[in-house]
Amino acid sequence: MHFLFWTAAGVLVAGTILRAEPQIDVENRVNALLARMTLDEKIGQMSQSTSMKTPLAESIKAEIRAGRWGSFLNAGSPADRAEAQRIAIHESRLGIPLLFGRDVIHGYKTVFPIPLGQAATWDRELVEQAAREAATEAATEGIRWTFAPMIDIARDPRWGRVAESLGEDPYLASALATAMVRGFQGKSLADALSVAACAKHFVGYGAAEAGRDYNSAWIPEILLREVYLPPFRAARDSGVATFMTGFEALNGVPATGNRFLLRDILRGEWKYDGLVVSDYEAVTEMIRHGFARDASDAAREAATAGIDMEMVSTAYHDHLKSLVERGAVEPAQIDAAVRNILRLKFRLGLFDEQIPPVGEAKPNAESLALAERAALESVVLLKNESGLLPLTEARRTVAVIGPLADSPLDQMGTWTMDGLRDRVETPLAALRSIMGADRVLYAPGLQTSRDTSDAGFAGAVDAARRSDVVLLFLGEEQILSGEARSRAFLDLPGAQEALFTNVLRAGKPVVVVIMAGRPLTFHSVAERARAVLYAWHPGTMGGPAIAQLLLGRRAPSGRLPITFPRSVGQVPIYYAHLNTGRPPSETELGIPMGTPLRPEGYTSKYIDVDFTPEYPFGYGLSYTTFEYSNLTISAPVLHAGQKLTVSAQIANRGKREGTETVQFYVRDLVASVVQPVRKLRGFERVTLQAGESRTVSFTLTPQDLAFYNQQMKLVTEPGKFQVWIAPDAVRGAMGEFELQ
Ligand code: NOJ
Repeated sequence: MHFLFWTAAGVLVAGTILRAEPQIDVENRVNALLARMTLDEKIGQMSQSTSMKTPLAESIKAEIRAGRWGSFLNAGSPADRAEAQRIAIHESRLGIPLLFGRDVIHGYKTVFPIPLGQAATWDRELVEQAAREAATEAATEGIRWTFAPMIDIARDPRWGRVAESLGEDPYLASALATAMVRGFQGKSLADALSVAACAKHFVGYGAAEAGRDYNSAWIPEILLREVYLPPFRAARDSGVATFMTGFEALNGVPATGNRFLLRDILRGEWKYDGLVVSDYEAVTEMIRHGFARDASDAAREAATAGIDMEMVSTAYHDHLKSLVERGAVEPAQIDAAVRNILRLKFRLGLFDEQIPPVGEAKPNAESLALAERAALESVVLLKNESGLLPLTEARRTVAVIGPLADSPLDQMGTWTMDGLRDRVETPLAALRSIMGADRVLYAPGLQTSRDTSDAGFAGAVDAARRSDVVLLFLGEEQILSGEARSRAFLDLPGAQEALFTNVLRAGKPVVVVIMAGRPLTFHSVAERARAVLYAWHPGTMGGPAIAQLLLGRRAPSGRLPITFPRSVGQVPIYYAHLNTGRPPSETELGIPMGTPLRPEGYTSKYIDVDFTPEYPFGYGLSYTTFEYSNLTISAPVLHAGQKLTVSAQIANRGKREGTETVQFYVRDLVASVVQPVRKLRGFERVTLQAGESRTVSFTLTPQDLAFYNQQMKLVTEPGKFQVWIAPDAVRGAMGEFELQ
């Protein structure tokens, strides 16, 4: 391990003003520094660059000396960053340290499951620990700001960034957003291994029309407040240090110039005092949106809306000064932005004497164990016909087939620029090491998930014939999900379905393991496979995790954080929908995929596919079965200022231990604004031994039943409510009470 030290004595200029009075609080230190800054230096702080050459170019060094940049993103090696920081502190007029940001999205050197996979764990504590580990590794290499968590509610699997999201539900996303913020930021931002988190993309970016990235979003205010804003509010309440705006135009106004969002809601209603950064060139993209005439106009719109820092484009640098001189931007607006930036730098302890050494982050036994646990908990068992899984010892020889069985890069998923490919353990490697190489026959069948050639089919079928069971690893390559990776088709790409069909002909039971960045549609594969595991992109330790689940050393416990459609034509499909005036009935279930069309009654359904999802939100099987019974409510009526306790008995009816995620849903039956058929209001993971049962309880207050009325006021209305304690969003034990 090598260390690069910044000497503490170096904080000379800043040190004399700031260190002399350690008792003064951050706000005073910010103001004292601000009072000494020129307008150019202030605009420098408001500018973030990505261009930092390795080794550090002389031109960049000169710019840092001149106070040209407040922050760099995704730039430089640890050594370059250390040198840049040394120059900022020692050689710039005011010695203001730089802030290094990076997309540390689901791990750094150790890669955890993609965020959507982490959401499938429904495990707050685990998600917090994963973020803590990512922060520790990143901070070790001089990164003190991550652009995560992405907490855009995502209800459209065509959108590639669904992979980065925490799924479709505001309650689950809020809980996990809180966990991630806590994990990244640690106990105190001032700790050298804490990293400032970033709630992004404020707001509505995930509602891109047609699932096409960067596209416009139209979200009525009521839906914004009910669904899209809550995770951001939760992040703010957990002290998230920064916000990033979205690329999209929301209701016709780019999020980056949106005063309603930034001024009225974020700063006004929420009293947020953190830093707001634009997305990458989103300031000047307002020109192409048709919202700003030119870069000067874009700078004015962004600055007056409340963008403190401009990412990458240079409209602030090029135009803010003259805008201020012309009176088009108030100096007070500039000062407010710079205060937000400096406040964060002080809170992070960047000005303080003890600048930690920059080291080299490496995965270690603990980080790998945590990554394995996260992968284990993220995998969702979707089907397990006649208990094929876990595999018994009688299945002596397995055929490992498919383009994702041994693909380290793909297994890491989107946004893993720092993930160490050579530390990834694939399912093939893990199965060989656990079972012994002679019991594992490997034939990929296809080179990549998009491969359309059948050249490898014969080898795959041959391996299948010689095995007792086929483990078929299908899905999407890393590059098919993430930013700008929208898809119009959600099926398994390339010739994967054909590979499946061919392998099936070998007559051996087939277990399909899908690694993907989004919900895919794979109805006909699921129908014919004996078992299906959905593993998302599970990260560094995905292989051992999957192997242990297949072999029964551990049992699956993941639950879907997003609804899986049967067909792309059903999108958007999500559990918390409103009832129509013509809801379809049970008798209309079972409409087959595609033709023949079945025109029946005049209800809200499709005539060529069942109206229900392939797998509902919250769904997931285990190697045992759980029974829900005895729903009890502590009182038939809930009064203002009081609480109800809702309980149910959960019993493990199978032969082995299992972990169930018990979910709590409510429905407001009649309201002045129609309410969803269910809303998640609680969840708890419980582990039960075979035969064990436990009472699981949730508390409900009138506040949990509040909704936005037609006047945009958060209200509760008296009336009847239903509650469920449930294994997913469509089943469960139900009860009723009244709110008075
Ligand atoms: C664009 C993405 O939208 C954003 O999420 C990311 O943090 C920035 N690029 C920086 O890489």
